[in-house]
Amino acid sequence: MSEFIKPLEWKDEVLYILNQLKLPEVEEYNPKLTVEDVFHAIRDMELRGAPLIGITAGYGLYIGIKDITTEDHDLFMEQVQKVADYLAESRPTAVNLFWALDRMVAKAKTLKELSLEDKKKALLDEAKEIHSEDETINRAIGDNLISVLKDGMSLLTHCNAGILATSKYGTATSPMYIAKEMGWNFKVYADETRPYLQGARLTAYELARGGVDVTLICDNMAGFLMSQGKIDAIITGADRVVANGDTANKIGTMSLAILAKHFNIPFYVAVPTPTIDLTMKTGKEIPIEERGHEEVTSWFGKQIAPQGINVYNPAFDVTPSEFITGIVTEKGIVYPPYEENLKKIFI
Ligand code: MRU
Repeated sequence: MSEFIKPLEWKDEVLYILNQLKLPEVEEYNPKLTVEDVFHAIRDMELRGAPLIGITAGYGLYIGIKDITTEDHDLFMEQVQKVADYLAESRPTAVNLFWALDRMVAKAKTLKELSLEDKKKALLDEAKEIHSEDETINRAIGDNLISVLKDGMSLLTHCNAGILATSKYGTATSPMYIAKEMGWNFKVYADETRPYLQGARLTAYELARGGVDVTLICDNMAGFLMSQGKIDAIITGADRVVANGDTANKIGTMSLAILAKHFNIPFYVAVPTPTIDLTMKTGKEIPIEERGHEEVTSWFGKQIAPQGINVYNPAFDVTPSEFITGIVTEKGIVYPPYEENLKKIFI
């Protein structure tokens, strides 16, 4: 297999981000030198995917405080909080953003006794830790998923919960890469994922690049493939899983889960524990991002709908937990009743 693609790199004290807006044509890395650069990279989706947003926010917080000059800890904390509040406004649905920022702020609070330089170093180390932990987590998610899959299966995935949404392996794609190492062969179908085409531009790209047998389909073909017996299991990622197991993920995920139940196909959600938000009881509480009309009305700069047409463009939907066969985390697979069992993995 060719080397794993890196969606982000911390090199020579600079954060480089792979510009996903240019994929699949060009692999271009751009330096992000200021916290505003990081904010715009997240908001404008130069990078995306819940875990990667969290990792980037960790580095972003460090970038936002690295030029602070005060030795006063309270003033230092004020600045840290200000940067965290600013980055928290970049996107609303992926809880990993808030999780990473909270973790960075909590770390900063413990640094009172250190010199300013040591505080900054400790925060950079924390960001690096969030980054490297994600790789270990995704590998474990993949191993756990492999335990419920078999060689030769056909899998369907939606959006991009791949390497390009994480540090390495992806969540939903992790077993697909591990299977390659094991000499197993999965046939993977990737939904194109309108309107932003994460499936076509990113998942199809990274899986093909990684030597995985991947076939691209339009979103509205998935039900037909299921009816033809072409899909053995569906695996998606998530932006937020709440206490009762309801799961926010890319728009279109819920329809797949409902179809999967109809056709008796297992539907797995692959998530690192930082994507689980037990502070919310049901999916109704999850903030759902709405994005610009142009994502729906135009196609790479070409207008494809009448000028001025009304558009509704929710970026995520919420799959009711009753349609989810299992929530696969790095700590194991959680099965219903989710309300009871999700709590247990945090004990
Ligand atoms: O809008 P995006 O591209 O950030 O949405 C990404 C998804 O919906 C992913 O499935 C999710 O974040 C999980 S990534 C491991």
